[in-house]
Amino acid sequence: MQAPEQVELGFFPTPLHPLPRLSEMLGGPEIWIKRDDQTGLATGGNKTRKLRLLVADALAQGADTLITAGAVQSNHCRQTAAAAAQFGLKCHLVVRGTPPEVPNGNLLLDLLLGARVHFVRDRAESQARMSALNEELREQGHRPYLIPYGGSNARGAAAYALAVQELQAQMEDMAFDAIVFATSSGGTQAGLVAGARLFGLETEIVGISVDEPRDVLAPRVARLAEEALALLGEPGAVLADDVVVEDGFRGGGYAVVGDLEREAIRTLARAEGILLDPVYTGRAFGGLLSLIREGRWGKGQRVLFWHTGGTPALFAFTDMVI
Ligand SMILES: Cc1ncc(COP(=O)(O)O)c(C=O)c1O
Repeated sequence: MQAPEQVELGFFPTPLHPLPRLSEMLGGPEIWIKRDDQTGLATGGNKTRKLRLLVADALAQGADTLITAGAVQSNHCRQTAAAAAQFGLKCHLVVRGTPPEVPNGNLLLDLLLGARVHFVRDRAESQARMSALNEELREQGHRPYLIPYGGSNARGAAAYALAVQELQAQMEDMAFDAIVFATSSGGTQAGLVAGARLFGLETEIVGISVDEPRDVLAPRVARLAEEALALLGEPGAVLADDVVVEDGFRGGGYAVVGDLEREAIRTLARAEGILLDPVYTGRAFGGLLSLIREGRWGKGQRVLFWHTGGTPALFAFTDMVI
């Protein structure tokens, strides 16, 4: 394997620990958690791992500015803003949504971290604005580096392949029957799939889709996993049919908080004192609880929930999570 360059960002390895009270309450499999909500970058999250590789590439290319995009409460944008601050880079964020009267949650943190925030209406406008910003900044003599949605390209995905190695070192002789987590732009899942292949981890990798149907997301994850494997010097084919995406928990759509998310957030908070977020991990953990209740995993088995962060968004959804 050839490991790409990484910068020092955040704190690793993130903790891995059991959830004994929750496991007993549910009476099913033993549940464990991997704490990527504790990566330490301006409240943490899964994008920190990706940004270690992406920022290294930006610096290698002589960039002085990071440009990326997301929703108004994007955790990816907030962590990109923090990474830019840490490396003395400028940061432009193109966010979908309307400016709130009082910035809160991730948006508040973006501004505190010194990012320039540009509001757009939808994804099409967002793409056009990123390209326009890129050109404008170049004309002004800057050297911008574009990071795609969710940091999901070959490098971002490769970061999660390397995370499998980190997990294996912590597992010692323990085994998991499944790893469950929130999947959206697909980089996290692609990395876990690639890493499992690369490091021989025989565990079902189950992405709970936050917004896209399986037939859109699975091929994207497969393509990104192949790109990550190639970047790591171990090329190989990954079939969309082998990618496990559960898309039955999307409720009212992206960032629409329903009973599933509310119950999941309360359950983990009250059983274990751990916070989830309303958009991604609340939905994914709600999906995990439902799958356990349906009997997908039971006594004698062990399931890992990979917490991907996002808790600052709780403060932008206060009326919906209570
Ligand atoms: C908290 C959280 N969990 C999960 C995800 C999904 O990760 P990916 O975009 O790599 O699929 C995101 C993406 O924004 C996120 O912010």
